[in-house]
Amino acid sequence: MGKNDLETIEFDLLLEAIVRRYGYDFRNYARASIERRVRQAMAKLHLERISELTTHLLHDPQFFQDLVANFSITVTEMFRDPQVYLALREKVIPYLATYPFIKIWHAGCATGEEVYSLAILLMEEGLLERTTIYATDFNEAALETARAGIYPIEKIKEYNENYLRAKGKCSFSSYYHAQYDSVIMNKGLKKALTIARHNLVTDQVFGEMHLIMCRNVLIYFNRELQERVFTLFDESLGHGGFLCLGTKETIRFYPMAENFTEFDPQNKIYRKRSKS
Ligand SMILES: C[S@@+](CC[C@H](N)C(=O)[O-])C[C@H]1O[C@@H](n2cnc3c(N)ncnc32)[C@H](O)[C@@H]1O
Repeated sequence: MGKNDLETIEFDLLLEAIVRRYGYDFRNYARASIERRVRQAMAKLHLERISELTTHLLHDPQFFQDLVANFSITVTEMFRDPQVYLALREKVIPYLATYPFIKIWHAGCATGEEVYSLAILLMEEGLLERTTIYATDFNEAALETARAGIYPIEKIKEYNENYLRAKGKCSFSSYYHAQYDSVIMNKGLKKALTIARHNLVTDQVFGEMHLIMCRNVLIYFNRELQERVFTLFDESLGHGGFLCLGTKETIRFYPMAENFTEFDPQNKIYRKRSKS
């Protein structure tokens, strides 16, 4: 048996140990990015074998928490891919506006920048008052930031440019106030948000939604796990509901794709077919 085969066994055992000890299941994540982080953790502790890392995390919950925070890549920004927000504003919102109450699920929301962007857009279109945005992630530290709605002031120039490209209707600075080197998002935006922990690998359907946003999350999953999550989204969407994915993600080659139309292929917005 070669060194690589042994390492594969050790890696499998590490992921098995995590799921049995802590209930987090990374076995169906794309291996490359998890492996990179495992190697970084080993280098930091000067460990030679993956199995030594397994021993550490089995016996030290805090060590596991730090490692898991590293497994989840929370890079995000406000009005990320502004043309997607423009498409939501011009093409999706007119449909949402026909409902008395609007339910939106933002799955894998990281630190919440996208969620506040959506809340701003809905406020400008006069819909925020009757909307609930369920913002979920499995990373509790990221959710804490989302709840606080506090972001570095140095990012604001870039976010303002995104906002303008998404055809923002007001002044971006009216949605936050600055404090030292941070900005704090307005309470009026926060009122519409329900921020909760939800793990796409192990948790269940999230109620009947009108729009699900899940961008730049599925890229970290293998095909089997992507299929599970698409089933979850299919079951969580009412007929005529919308699904918005990231630029590199598609539902196209999965069985449940037949339940959706490609509403705006360029912006990866799909619409669930109505019952025939
Ligand atoms: C790169 S961020 C994307 C953030 C945002 N949606 C965006 O596009 O800017 C990926 C997020 O997916 C979350 N994530 C990864 N695996 C998850 C899981 N099993 N359940 C819920 N969230 C998960 C990570 O914690 C991270 O916050």
